[in-house]
Amino acid sequence: MHCNKVFNTRICLRALAVSLLTGLAVLGYLVKNTTLISTWSYQAKEEDSRVWTTQSAGTDWTLKELWTNFKNILNQPCDSPVANFSQTCGKEASACTRDCIRPLSNNTEKRLNDVITSPNLTLSKQQRDAILSLSESIPESDVIFLSASSSNHYDEMQAMFHNLHTVVFPLIPNITVVLFDIGLTEDQRRKTELHCRCHVVRFPAEKFPPHMKTNICYSWKPVIVRATMDKVRQILVYQDASIRWDQQLLAVINRTRTFGLQFHRNDYLSRISLHTLKQTFNYFGEEPCAFSPFPELEANNGIYKKDPFVIRGLLEPWARCALEASCMCPVDPGSVLSCNKPVAEHRCHRFDQSALGMITAKLFNKDINRIFAPSYKYLDIRRDHRMANYFNSLDKPKV
Ligand SMILES: *[C@@H]1O[C@H](CO)[C@@H](O)[C@H](O)[C@H]1NC(C)=O
Ligand SMILES: *[C@@H]1O[C@H](CO)[C@@H](O)[C@H](O)[C@H]1NC(C)=O
Ligand SMILES: *[C@@H]1O[C@H](CO)[C@@H](O)[C@H](O)[C@H]1NC(C)=O
Ligand SMILES: *[C@@H]1O[C@H](CO)[C@@H](O)[C@H](O)[C@H]1NC(C)=O
Ligand SMILES: *[C@@H]1O[C@H](CO)[C@@H](O)[C@H](O)[C@H]1NC(C)=O
Repeated sequence: MHCNKVFNTRICLRALAVSLLTGLAVLGYLVKNTTLISTWSYQAKEEDSRVWTTQSAGTDWTLKELWTNFKNILNQPCDSPVANFSQTCGKEASACTRDCIRPLSNNTEKRLNDVITSPNLTLSKQQRDAILSLSESIPESDVIFLSASSSNHYDEMQAMFHNLHTVVFPLIPNITVVLFDIGLTEDQRRKTELHCRCHVVRFPAEKFPPHMKTNICYSWKPVIVRATMDKVRQILVYQDASIRWDQQLLAVINRTRTFGLQFHRNDYLSRISLHTLKQTFNYFGEEPCAFSPFPELEANNGIYKKDPFVIRGLLEPWARCALEASCMCPVDPGSVLSCNKPVAEHRCHRFDQSALGMITAKLFNKDINRIFAPSYKYLDIRRDHRMANYFNSLDKPKV
């Protein structure tokens, strides 16, 4: 079912990549506008297009509507390993269960209701409008890949585009790629616009509270994800510049149609309560112990289905937290970045990742395995992988 055996062609693909690089300026257009090498195409469901004829929806879904969609996700058969909620807490950093005065409720509809009715987690109309204005120049598309970069990640970002051009473009026809500029130099931005085969959008930090100007608060991320979702008809793929996809991505995109969301998580990751500041729990009105049974998930990539439950249940609460310094970035971010410390609650903070972990845990609780892709490899996280010369090499196509 997950096509583990179908795509055993990484080497072939590398060869293909090399040939594609030859005369890429011309080929680029060809690949984008045809479906030459596509092995799979994304089938729109009729109901999807019905739901999404109106833009900017998001204020008026009822609990009943959201719960119907959520229940549907919970009723699908699921093959991801079930998380273990009976590890007791010891000296390890891993997820564990302990006595807690206010654990998460076992009633899933109630948890969903708590999230969507919490004033701290609800966007005002002005906030939503400000966020959605970011997507004005993005074309409506079935599938959008979204990323962001500042100048210090420029070479990593070039390597990301190399991966998108050589692996993803041939794999999925007709995708739109969007890059938010969160601090590229003029020259970098110009080169990116020339070669990325993407839409470059400047992130207007000045429209938002002051902490949004500090990139390492990561508050820009939930905001660009919510904004871009407005132009997506089916699937939104968010990725940091460090993400390199392989062909198994198709299977995980497929899973997203069923489960609404797919993230990457390893059970050995530290529990959320170690890597999230107390202020964030206060903002959510939650006890840290309620989140110790959950390992962190990776917020460096995420696949999101266009679905009212996903938007109103997850993306909007996440974006609202991002807009509040007291939720996502309550102290000098540089002082809490490093988690390389002895095991202790709140030993560091993961900003966007902390909030995403909390909201998904709150929504899914013991069903959280549904939103994690199975353990087969569909991506590499390669923070050290740079290609300083990729865009330059496209300036002078070989003959
Ligand atoms: C969960 O963890 C407990 C304690 O380590 C262990 O006894 C139990 O077998 C585990 N259950 C599963 C399903 O892995
Ligand atoms: C949820 O269910 C588990 C297992 O039935 C039980 O141990 C736990 O106390 C319940 N939690 C709450 C908050 O009711
Ligand atoms: C390709 O994308 C454009 C813009 O999103 C859309 O109008 C068109 O219908 C898409 N074509 C196919 C074959 O999906
Ligand atoms: C995607 O899902 C469809 C229908 O469930 C299935 O037929 C197809 O093989 C899947 N494709 C991949 C790449 O997993
Ligand atoms: C909302 O956030 C504020 C600031 O962190 C906090 O004091 C308050 O208790 C929160 N409200 C709820 C209902 O959790």
